[in-house]
Amino acid sequence: MNDSCFSAVPVSPNVWWVGARDWSVRNFHGYETGRGSTYNAFLVIDEKVTVIDAVKAPFMDEMLARIASVIDPQKVDIVISNHSEPDHSGGLPRLIDTVRPEKVYASMAGTKTLGAYYGLKDIQTVKTGDSISVGRGNISFVDTKMLHWPDSMVSFYDLDNILFSQDAFGMHLASSPLWADECDRSILDYEARKYFANILNLQADRIIALLDALPGLGLDIKIIAPDHGPLWRRDLQWILDLYREAAEQKYSKRALVAFSTMWHATEKMAKALAEGLRTAGIEVALCDLDVCDRSAVMTEVARSGLVAFGAPTMNNQVFPKMADVLNYVKGLRPRNKIGFAFGAYGWSGEGGKQIAAELEAMGFELPEPLCQIKYMPSQEELCKIVETGKKLGTVLSERCQ
Ligand code: FEO
Repeated sequence: MNDSCFSAVPVSPNVWWVGARDWSVRNFHGYETGRGSTYNAFLVIDEKVTVIDAVKAPFMDEMLARIASVIDPQKVDIVISNHSEPDHSGGLPRLIDTVRPEKVYASMAGTKTLGAYYGLKDIQTVKTGDSISVGRGNISFVDTKMLHWPDSMVSFYDLDNILFSQDAFGMHLASSPLWADECDRSILDYEARKYFANILNLQADRIIALLDALPGLGLDIKIIAPDHGPLWRRDLQWILDLYREAAEQKYSKRALVAFSTMWHATEKMAKALAEGLRTAGIEVALCDLDVCDRSAVMTEVARSGLVAFGAPTMNNQVFPKMADVLNYVKGLRPRNKIGFAFGAYGWSGEGGKQIAAELEAMGFELPEPLCQIKYMPSQEELCKIVETGKKLGTVLSERCQ
């Protein structure tokens, strides 16, 4: 018997949402989730009853209660794991123990991950083109390897035309509405871009290939149901277009100036640079790494055509917060960027050189030389930095034409 107050939420005639909202999570393996997240899971009630994905382990009571609100959990016949990262598989062992399904399906790589994490065995492997009958409808599978794990796949239920897209087309957002068309679009825009920048940017080419391939797969998709954030039923093209734009990473007339500072010298340089860029007609975001975490910085990197990083030197090294950001951004491989390195120093000045070297290693174009200033910039030096900002703004405007 279901003794919980949690209920399943209808998605379509034969599908229910049985996931969980995590309003409190603020750190998702280093990604700052300021608006929480959701772990979406789905129940397909056809002649065979199927559960698609699970939730983080601490939310399993909630998921089982939602299932039990519409059907006896013992009636679940099939479990599908589209993606085995623990935010979707943490509750899987308990789900399997509870419902004892006839079959559990995952990709070949998924069977290995689920075995390694939980010792799960006897998982059936599926690949692109495979399809299982669940009665009146079929569930088919498409391999989306490295989007964003080796095991990733999506599944499609043809009776209700739903694409269960796991992490793809999702975002970290706990929202009361289930549907994207009931949410504030500006929040969706920011959180979807943030998710793409921090989770998927490294795989941008694969995203473009998937978007190109989708129409040819012959799936009549009416609903996109990701594993995070709201579901898409009215304006699927909006999220598909946002993904394409984010993946293409074309130059834009936006600039990010991100900096660390010890005694405000690098901060003064950052503000002068931003002033020059703004004067040249560029929209600028200024991020002080004392208050902007690495995932907020990466979100701005992804949508900016120019990225300026500034930091002081500390103990012959770039200031630690900037080192962290450089390491993080480099791993996500942003493309089509103009870069600029700057910073203040007192003794030896390795910090700025290290920033410039990292920007170069990322493939950024560096039209202006490294700008380093000893101790504190003078008024004259700040005016020169404003001029540098204007020059960089002009170069960026040319790239955007
Ligand atoms: Fe939402 Fe890759 O896990």
